[in-house]
Amino acid sequence: MSENSCGTTVPDDLAERAAALDAADGLAALRKLFTLDDTVYLDGNSLGALPRHVPARIAEVVEREWGELRIRSWSESGWWTAPERIGDRIAPLVGAAPGRIVVGDSTSVNVFKAVVGAVRIARRGPDGDARTEVVVDARTFPTDGYIAASAARLTGCRIVPVDPADPGAVASALGPATAAVLLNQVDYRSGRLHDLPALTAAVHAVGAVAVWDLCHSAGALPVGLDAHGVDLAVGCTYKYLNGGPGAPAFLYIAERHQGVFDSPLPGWTSHTDPFAMDPAYTPAEGALRGRVGTPDILSMLTLEAALDVWDGVPIEAVRAKSLALTDFFLECVDGRLGERLGTGLGEPGCPVRSLTPAEHRHRGSQTALSCADAPVVMERLIARGVVGDLRRPDVLRFGFTPLYTSFADAERAASVLVDVLAEVLAEPLTEAASGNSGVSTEG
Ligand SMILES: Cc1ncc(COP(=O)(O)O)c(C=O)c1O
Repeated sequence: MSENSCGTTVPDDLAERAAALDAADGLAALRKLFTLDDTVYLDGNSLGALPRHVPARIAEVVEREWGELRIRSWSESGWWTAPERIGDRIAPLVGAAPGRIVVGDSTSVNVFKAVVGAVRIARRGPDGDARTEVVVDARTFPTDGYIAASAARLTGCRIVPVDPADPGAVASALGPATAAVLLNQVDYRSGRLHDLPALTAAVHAVGAVAVWDLCHSAGALPVGLDAHGVDLAVGCTYKYLNGGPGAPAFLYIAERHQGVFDSPLPGWTSHTDPFAMDPAYTPAEGALRGRVGTPDILSMLTLEAALDVWDGVPIEAVRAKSLALTDFFLECVDGRLGERLGTGLGEPGCPVRSLTPAEHRHRGSQTALSCADAPVVMERLIARGVVGDLRRPDVLRFGFTPLYTSFADAERAASVLVDVLAEVLAEPLTEAASGNSGVSTEG
């Protein structure tokens, strides 16, 4: 036992520390709401775990709502209004008032709606014709880059890549020609958290429209969309929101833009009166104009049920635990490396390098470590019950999902990781080193 900086006595052993942290964790009881086994699951930043009650709800939707009520369910079971109703369930988690979020389609499709919509909003201003640039996070998840490039071609714009971690570079990329800016709040690879309030303010200072991708922040940390004046945002629901594989994404439209948002995909369910079957398009009021076609009801209602685990959970508590978990994991990796290999994280000769920002204000809810033979290391971690994922060529990602990740998970993952690193270091390079396991489908 030793004293920490607060003068409290703490056990020296990392496993004992983990047990003490778990015992003091106010969110620990939520873990039992999920279907988990003794695998250490650190891939919830890619595909969230299954909330236990969801299968029964889905069985009810299929058997009763589809099987028995059939078409009556569009009204009697609330199917038709699911996109906006579920949007209102997500809203408090990302700091939005009701009526600003609609759920549906993939993130990629929503990026398209948002970027084209943003350019159209920017061009409404007096100097609108001069706005011919779409500024995009240079290290973005690829789909955002591909879609933004297509959106730019369609709107007669050019793409300007920028590093959102460098405020000076952002400032020099922005100007009177900027129409829209598409940035990620958290970088999918490194887990770096970008400064959403300051960057949104910088975009507004040049009269442009800010679009944020919240895939790696929704459900992981407070976002404050309304408070920070974000214009448009998109995000997925299969990571920290546990909505299931391929769960529908969401689109946020700030209240001040709802009357003018001009979707490039004005499907019939975004019409003000869809069943009038009017050949002329009149958009619905509010975020509903972000809808496109018939909602994907089975996935939507899976997501809606999954969101029950958030009832009464403050996102600030989730953030506090997330930071404590990532700090503790890095401390455990450092400690175990010292014990096993005589070198701490970041010290000369250390086989692994942390890409995770040390400062909390720059950190999302994952840690990223880079090492040689990362594919082999991840393959062996998974075989030993520690599931993270690989971003080729050399990044090991470990996602921390505070609703169900424990401090004991963090300690065990670090111990197994260091065992595997020591083992791989001791081996001559084999063909296996070119393996490609741990590649997950979701980013
Ligand atoms: C940051 C980011 N944006 C976009 C996507 C793509 O989302 P979708 O497959 O729902 O279109 C992902 C996928 O993981 C992502 O991580």
